[in-house]
Amino acid sequence: MTTILGISAFYHDSAAALVRDGQILAAAQEERFTRIKHDFNFPQHAVDYCLAEAGITPAQLDAVCFYDKPLLKFERLLETYLAFAPLGLRSFMMAIPLWVRQKLFLPREIDKGLHDQYEGPIYFTQHHESHAASAFFPSPFEEAAIVTLDGVGEWATTTWGVGKGNRVEIRKEVRFPHSLGLLYSAFTYYTGFKVNSGEYKVMGLAPYGEPRYADLILSELMDLKEDGSFWLNQKYFNYCSGLTMTNGRFDKLFGGPARQSESRVTQREMDLAASVQKVTEEVMMRIIRHVHRQTVLDNLCLAGGVALNCVGNGKILRDGPFKDIWIQPAAGDAGGALGAALFTWHQVMDKPRTPQPLDSQTGSYLGPAYSESQIRAYLDRVGAKYTVYANEDELCRHVAELMERGKVIGFLKGRMEFGPRALGARSIIGDPRNPKMQAQMNLKVKFRESFRPFAPSCLREKVADYFEMDCESPYMLLVAPVREDRRLEMNQEQKKLFGIDKLHVLRSDIPAVTHVDYSARVQTVNKQTAPAYWKLIKAFEERTGCPVIVNTSFNIRGEPIVCTPQDAYKCFMYTDMEALVLENCLCLKEDQPPMSGAEQYRKQFKLD
Ligand SMILES: [Fe+2]
Repeated sequence: MTTILGISAFYHDSAAALVRDGQILAAAQEERFTRIKHDFNFPQHAVDYCLAEAGITPAQLDAVCFYDKPLLKFERLLETYLAFAPLGLRSFMMAIPLWVRQKLFLPREIDKGLHDQYEGPIYFTQHHESHAASAFFPSPFEEAAIVTLDGVGEWATTTWGVGKGNRVEIRKEVRFPHSLGLLYSAFTYYTGFKVNSGEYKVMGLAPYGEPRYADLILSELMDLKEDGSFWLNQKYFNYCSGLTMTNGRFDKLFGGPARQSESRVTQREMDLAASVQKVTEEVMMRIIRHVHRQTVLDNLCLAGGVALNCVGNGKILRDGPFKDIWIQPAAGDAGGALGAALFTWHQVMDKPRTPQPLDSQTGSYLGPAYSESQIRAYLDRVGAKYTVYANEDELCRHVAELMERGKVIGFLKGRMEFGPRALGARSIIGDPRNPKMQAQMNLKVKFRESFRPFAPSCLREKVADYFEMDCESPYMLLVAPVREDRRLEMNQEQKKLFGIDKLHVLRSDIPAVTHVDYSARVQTVNKQTAPAYWKLIKAFEERTGCPVIVNTSFNIRGEPIVCTPQDAYKCFMYTDMEALVLENCLCLKEDQPPMSGAEQYRKQFKLD
């Protein structure tokens, strides 16, 4: 038996993953335990959790693998500084202490994190090898092209290669500072959102705008080649030498300064978002077509932060040359921990690989679960009132009824998801047909006014009845149009509405999950990989005829997704959520004793 621990840390989204004889036993992001979003510190809690899940001590590990090569990254930092000196002195000086303290002495940090009990080998994979391994090894394919699209690792920002059997091989790369991820982040910054987490908002904003700046981006900011390789004009960017993403020349080119965060979003930001989204899709398509020409393979695997751009992914699937695609759900740096561990097993140790029909990620339900006795002990301690259901069917029937009555419900069941999306193990759910659901969930629970609709979870076997797609999308990484026969046209009055007001116009018979352009970020729910969640949606369908429910992550704005029953109960109590499911226990808000501290709770999370 060989057990390998993979670690990613010190950039953003630290995580740990444990692989035993090629099987993924556990994986989790540090933020869920520390409650600090995108926590980049050494993933101590995640490591401890993984070891506990496998029931071993650090001494029993056979190998530990870190997801990138710190020395190469340091070299990039140093060379970038020298190339732009003395311009980047301030950002360089700010980066140095962390490097000296932790990153350059990684083996020491890892020893400490393993409680000085581990004496085996420590491997370092390259950043993009880790992403590529995370994309291919868990995929259902024997052979596939691999594309990683990212901000930056050591030097590479975009790579492509081939996975076959138990090997991945990177063939070509685009190097820093030319980066699709950083281009997107530059516009995230410029439109007033937070880099490395607000990219999703830019994507959500894009359908409201016109891509009127796309040509300007292509002519001034970048030189894009037919094969998808590109060069970014550093004249307009500041990330090599400063502390911001863009500079004064950029402002001048796009006609004004960056939007202040939390100020009103205007048509201009919407047009900027539409423009960078269009360019990103164009670059993605060119790369994908080129890689298809070069590899002549049927299947494609994707990872890296840009692979979370599910609008782009949906286009690749619909309009691209590959027959099938698989995307690592933890596509960002957290997934590097998993990739590093799998790389060590297959490629370093040369162990065979048997692809599984769906995939080997098991729905990405790879985090901690909590027993009913643990849950009851906690609920009793805080004096909560709850009903325990003897069987799951009965619970699901009751929850379906609550949903139909318009209730917003917190749902914690089974192992926590690995990756940024909630997939029905730590979700807030509701009725997608309800015209008020979108606004209700946003204001009562999320404390945000959002221009993004929520995502639908749909029974896998019914997905084609609602959406223009008929394939697996278990990780909510593909956007597909709502079927035409379910759409509702906007009238002339409604067409004149601006921004978020448009979102309140009903666009289909499942309005809570339909975007203004009729798109939806679909999660297909499979009976095999997510039996409890499947059963719940089935119960809702039996009651209402609708096999779709609303699924949003179980958290408030700025908060990492809940992990424990304690986290879930607090989030339930401090918001206007109306019911809470913890395994087979159901709490109704009206029955609960009051709990003080709501104000403080909301304040502890920084807005993202
Ligand atoms: Fe990365």
